[in-house]
Amino acid sequence: MTTLLVIQAHPHTAQSLSLTVGKQFVDTYQATHPDDKVLIRDLYAAGGVPPLNDQTMEAWRKQKFGEELSMEEQALLKRHAEWLDEFIAADKYVFINPMYNHFLPAEMKQYLDLTAVAHKTFKYTSNGSVGLLTGKKAIHIQAAGSEYHKGGKWGTIKFLIKKAFGIKSKQSSALMDLGDLYLTNMLKFYGVTDVEKLFIEGADAHRDQRQAILDNALTAAKTMAKTF
Ligand SMILES: Cc1cc2nc3c(=O)[nH]c(=O)nc-3n(C[C@H](O)[C@H](O)[C@H](O)COP(=O)(O)O)c2cc1C
Repeated sequence: MTTLLVIQAHPHTAQSLSLTVGKQFVDTYQATHPDDKVLIRDLYAAGGVPPLNDQTMEAWRKQKFGEELSMEEQALLKRHAEWLDEFIAADKYVFINPMYNHFLPAEMKQYLDLTAVAHKTFKYTSNGSVGLLTGKKAIHIQAAGSEYHKGGKWGTIKFLIKKAFGIKSKQSSALMDLGDLYLTNMLKFYGVTDVEKLFIEGADAHRDQRQAILDNALTAAKTMAKTF
């Protein structure tokens, strides 16, 4: 059975564009793939993403050297393992988030730290690292107040030329969407190279166009979900 894992990093504000479009994508996917299993991993849910803090480091050290783990440490490592196993077992991923300061919410970064585990999601070889999650696919659904991807590849080239000549660019560029660049790179590092994008952009910069921006994204979500 194919499993779709929805990784959602949003603090649940009302009228969220990314959550609304993400829900449309998941609902359409479910309707058009009735035999598939859909799991929702809400990174803002109680308890949060298992942390990489001093307790985790100490529990890993003890495990490595065969020292006895406290009950608390055992529970912590069990939680880490459950989240990691769930990620590895999934066939398809939906990442949903708002852009925060040109990046992903910290919870999404923490999730990517949790899932980057040698011999689980990637391995080292004499020719560099190799991703172990091959044959899977992902989609990144992200809302941002301004526009980063509107100009496509040509927009990025124009942005770089302006930068090279010290000309101030009025338009943002995909190169300033560090969150999407990072997520796409991490997925590639894990072996997931088939990554689709659905950006809901510009609703803060063009307030009068908010509904039209949302409607376009909802239509795109329906279309993309059917063939995902
Ligand atoms: C803390 C914070 C940081 C933000 N940083 C950016 C940013 O760097 N670039 C941008 O275009 N929009 C930024 N925004 C605007 C949001 O990305 C935008 O409102 C988006 O629609 C939020 O997603 P949502 O509609 O799903 O809640 C920021 C919003 C917040 C609250």
